[in-house]
Amino acid sequence: KPLVFSGVQPTGNLHLGNYLGAIRKFVALQDNNDCIYCVVDLHSITAQLVHEDLRGQIRSIAAAFIASGIDPEKHIVFNQSAVPQHAELAWIFNCVARIGWMNRMTQFKDKAGKDRENASLGLLAYPSLMAADILVYRATHVPVGDDQKQHLELTRDIAQKFNIDFMAHIRARGYGVDIVVGEEPIHAYFPPVEPLIGGPAPRVMSLRDGTKKMSKSDPSDLSRINLMDDADTILKKIRKAKTDPDALPSEADGLKGRPEAENLVGIYAALSDRSKDEVLAEFGGQQFSAFKPALADLAVTVLSPITGEMRRLMGDTAHIDAILRKGGERARERAEKTMREVREIIGFLQ
Ligand code: TYM
Repeated sequence: KPLVFSGVQPTGNLHLGNYLGAIRKFVALQDNNDCIYCVVDLHSITAQLVHEDLRGQIRSIAAAFIASGIDPEKHIVFNQSAVPQHAELAWIFNCVARIGWMNRMTQFKDKAGKDRENASLGLLAYPSLMAADILVYRATHVPVGDDQKQHLELTRDIAQKFNIDFMAHIRARGYGVDIVVGEEPIHAYFPPVEPLIGGPAPRVMSLRDGTKKMSKSDPSDLSRINLMDDADTILKKIRKAKTDPDALPSEADGLKGRPEAENLVGIYAALSDRSKDEVLAEFGGQQFSAFKPALADLAVTVLSPITGEMRRLMGDTAHIDAILRKGGERARERAEKTMREVREIIGFLQ
């Protein structure tokens, strides 16, 4: 079975972008894969060190996973800091990756802003830790939103450089397999990682501006639908969502150059597990005054059971903590297996 890994940061409220770009895909992948889903608490201290209620945030992401339908018995749900092997492998990857690779990351540039000298070293090294998250399990498939694409390319680069730099040691220990990456045959310890980004809403945009990503940090709450929003708030936000004056086209091609229309149709498609063309076959020719209430209804129908279940789970923190603790134990066992080999490959005594 392919091994799937993904993570979500415990910062701020989860929004529809996180749900459609990531969590909904996590749920769908459970049937045919072995899945590991992680609350990446170590990542959440890179941009902001001190959090008022980090424990509560960690629990709420775990609650969102479970409320959305992830089965923590069949798969693994845990928080990153419970498995110190992530940080250990990240340190090794800090010595594999080059500063130039990190400097080129658009997310680093965005988050560090103008005062780059004053960003934390952790923010710069963020993608090393992300590569370690995935590769410490030697996972091969990673469901994420479009904004994580560059980080996953870097993960492939780190794996490739490690494999090449240590190839003789990997072989000497009898680890790894022969694979072809691009054109090049190599003996690899870490597999090449495949991002799973597709679907009708890989990048959910702000409801106020179809050219900006929906994000936790947008100052306008009207720009996003939060997973914890109640039905009235969802209705209001969709009613107020920016649109253009034209009717909907009858095919997805007609959405080009209409970012707000494309975004809302993409959201409808993702929430109903259909393609944009299928949605437009139904709504083509209609005005937003007809489409928006249908979208709002659909959003409430899909999200309100999740919101309700999240609230219920958050009322029983002992239960969530027990799930995370057990998940952490299972994850640690697997991660340690990789780390014993990695330490051998590098030449540490153990
Ligand atoms: P994070 O916590 O910012 O976001 C969690 C997931 O939500 C996706 N996402 C979106 N998808 C579509 N439209 C949007 N507007 C939108 N906003 C966010 C993100 O792409 C992500 O999949 N670095 C990661 C966390 C991470 C990770 C990993 C992911 C750490 N280690 C290993 C995969 C594998 C992050 O900050 O996601």
